[in-house]
Amino acid sequence: MPFKYPLVLFQNRKPDRVATLDEYRESGGYEALEKFIGGGISPKEVIRLVTESGLLGRGGAGFPAGMKWAAVPDSSPFPRYLVANSDEMEPGTFKDRMLLHVDPHCVIEGMALAAYSFSGSKAFFFVRPSYESSAAILERELENARKAGFLGNRILGTDFSFDIVVHRSGGRYICGEASALLNAIMGKRPNPVKPPPYPTEKGLWEKPTVVNNVETLANVPHILRNGPEWFKSLSATEHGAGTKIYGISGRVSRPGAVELPIGTRLSEIIDLHCGGMASGSKFKACLPGGASTRFLTPEHYDIPMDFEDLKKIGNRLGTAAIMVFDQNTCLLGATLNLMEFFARESCGWCTPCREGLPYMRDLLWRIENGEGKEEFIPNLRMLCKQVWNSYCALAPGAAEPVISLLDFFEDEVRQHISEKGCPFHAKADH
Ligand SMILES: Cc1cc2nc3c(=O)[nH]c(=O)nc-3n(C[C@H](O)[C@H](O)[C@H](O)COP(=O)(O)O)c2cc1C
Ligand code: SF4
Repeated sequence: MPFKYPLVLFQNRKPDRVATLDEYRESGGYEALEKFIGGGISPKEVIRLVTESGLLGRGGAGFPAGMKWAAVPDSSPFPRYLVANSDEMEPGTFKDRMLLHVDPHCVIEGMALAAYSFSGSKAFFFVRPSYESSAAILERELENARKAGFLGNRILGTDFSFDIVVHRSGGRYICGEASALLNAIMGKRPNPVKPPPYPTEKGLWEKPTVVNNVETLANVPHILRNGPEWFKSLSATEHGAGTKIYGISGRVSRPGAVELPIGTRLSEIIDLHCGGMASGSKFKACLPGGASTRFLTPEHYDIPMDFEDLKKIGNRLGTAAIMVFDQNTCLLGATLNLMEFFARESCGWCTPCREGLPYMRDLLWRIENGEGKEEFIPNLRMLCKQVWNSYCALAPGAAEPVISLLDFFEDEVRQHISEKGCPFHAKADH
């Protein structure tokens, strides 16, 4: 196979089971913890190396991980908390689940090192409730890590104590938003909270709290063991750093999760790593990073899949969950399906989202079902702008597929209106 790249996060991937603690250790696991925590290397050095590596948060926003840890003020009170966000309810996204089922110890070691960098003593593993098997794996492997002396009181005989509990989420999409997640852990209604203060200053129970995505944390032991330059060299582009787990679904021959250099071109991901488009399918569009991103069209087929290049064209890498659609897919129907989700998951706190998303869903539904009118198109465009006045990122994210549907596939939307129904359903009926 001409396209083999070094695996980092998936190096211990087995076809049928989770890698054990021993297997993780044989591949260099817990060496970084032994060297940095056991060896008493300063927490500031951990932050310096991770910052220098260019590791950007893998939860969707791409915020620099080292910078987030450095934002916990030295003078801030204790205890300080860490949360590993594995809520993963973004439609199409399944990479964190894969990671937890492949090699849970790289996440556990990453959490201990991240917490060490800002003197955190307690962490929550925030897991989607439908990921009960992941939660059970974590509970078992946390116990194994404790027995080996990598978690708990006075880790490896040092003054650093740190432990992790698994917290099952209530099961709503908004619970994955960092500030709503903190409310959820504290047993409050999970409404988002706008900064300031940032959670790194006042988070859980008013104490400094860092929230990171599971994949972000999993990279940390590898960076500390191999160095920031090594991490940067893994990228397929000049500006990127590290590898990325791409989760591909839809009309490809081999859907699934693949770890590749960040910035691998979309064409390579589909043609080589997913075995090409499914039989009889031609690429029509994809959402590159989960449901809250914009459609890419055939003209974007060669785009490097990293934060920077997608930003340049007004799009986002998001969670790198690539949903691929072919010539037989009604993109209006697909967008309606996503809008049903977003409208249902709105927490109801602010009007543009609570009222705007169901309104958009109704307009899309009416166009799809033969009740569309020409004026719905400008109405939808206006609503896509209005939802930017909402309180958190859920509603602007929900508008992303809609606005790109209108920008790139307006003719298809108009066809639904003029033909009084979905042309794809009509074709399927024949
Ligand atoms: C509605 C909504 C849902 C989110 N869900 C998740 C999630 O399931 N997992 C996640 O890591 N980040 C999620 N995020 C992003 C988090 O708010 C936060 O940016 C992220 O956990 C930070 O981790 P990182 O800096 O390591 O990327 C969500 C954001 C929004 C607006
Ligand atoms: S944008 Fe939606 S999810 Fe976010 S606070 Fe407003 S109502 Fe809640």
